[in-house]
Amino acid sequence: MTQNIYDDPEFFDAYSRLPRSRDGLEGAPEWPSLRALLPPVARARVLDLGCGYGWFSRWARDQGAASVLGVDVSERMIARARSEGDDAPITYVRADLETYAPPPGAFDLAYSSLAFHYLDALRPLLGRIYEALTDGGSLVFSVEHPLLTAPDRPEWVEGENGEAVWPVRRYLDEGMRRTDWLAPGVIKQHRTIETYLRLLREAGFTLRELCEWGPSREQIAAQPEWKKERERPFFLLIRCSR
Ligand SMILES: C[S@@+](CC[C@H](N)C(=O)[O-])C[C@H]1O[C@@H](n2cnc3c(N)ncnc32)[C@H](O)[C@@H]1O
Repeated sequence: MTQNIYDDPEFFDAYSRLPRSRDGLEGAPEWPSLRALLPPVARARVLDLGCGYGWFSRWARDQGAASVLGVDVSERMIARARSEGDDAPITYVRADLETYAPPPGAFDLAYSSLAFHYLDALRPLLGRIYEALTDGGSLVFSVEHPLLTAPDRPEWVEGENGEAVWPVRRYLDEGMRRTDWLAPGVIKQHRTIETYLRLLREAGFTLRELCEWGPSREQIAAQPEWKKERERPFFLLIRCSR
């Protein structure tokens, strides 16, 4: 059953204070890498899965997208997206991606930022996204990197010499993880990279690019507190095509 944690008032409030919530795409350090994976967006019909505040939906329209359909299970996130402005070619729909079926053959680009690791039934959704794309259409998405979703307690520990060490535990033991992130008991789904690639292949997709994202040296120079984030990748970014 879908947890819909973004409608929890405590979680929603904490999420609204993150840089990516305050500053949008510019506040998301992986955005330049994710943007680099995108095909041309001008004139594209775009599907934004787990659209949240709708930052990407609006960006796509600014780039000349013909239309954008943003989908999210959270009433609060959708309300926030709608409150950001009324642009007729953008439609926001409240729906659960565990079961949502986008209209077949209706999109040139499907995009999803940091939503798929919440989903239990990812394989059927990938099949429905494949059907929703035109031939040659692209799926570009990001998830928390499997090295982040693997441990039961995703927290730095102190190494022998006082250095920060990321605990890699239960990597091959896929499935539900319950963690305390912004609120207690947030449910995410851990999958290995191998599984992500297999699910995409089974759905019919061809892998085009994969990026194990961590902050660049320039980003660390600007934000020295991110230095330890280069100990392991933080996000997994993928572009594939129908
Ligand atoms: C980390 S936020 C990312 C929001 C947006 N994509 C962004 O990058 O700013 C994850 C989003 O996925 C949505 N989400 C999680 N599980 C979902 C589900 N089962 N169906 C639809 N949306 C879901 C959440 O409500 C939330 O808005």
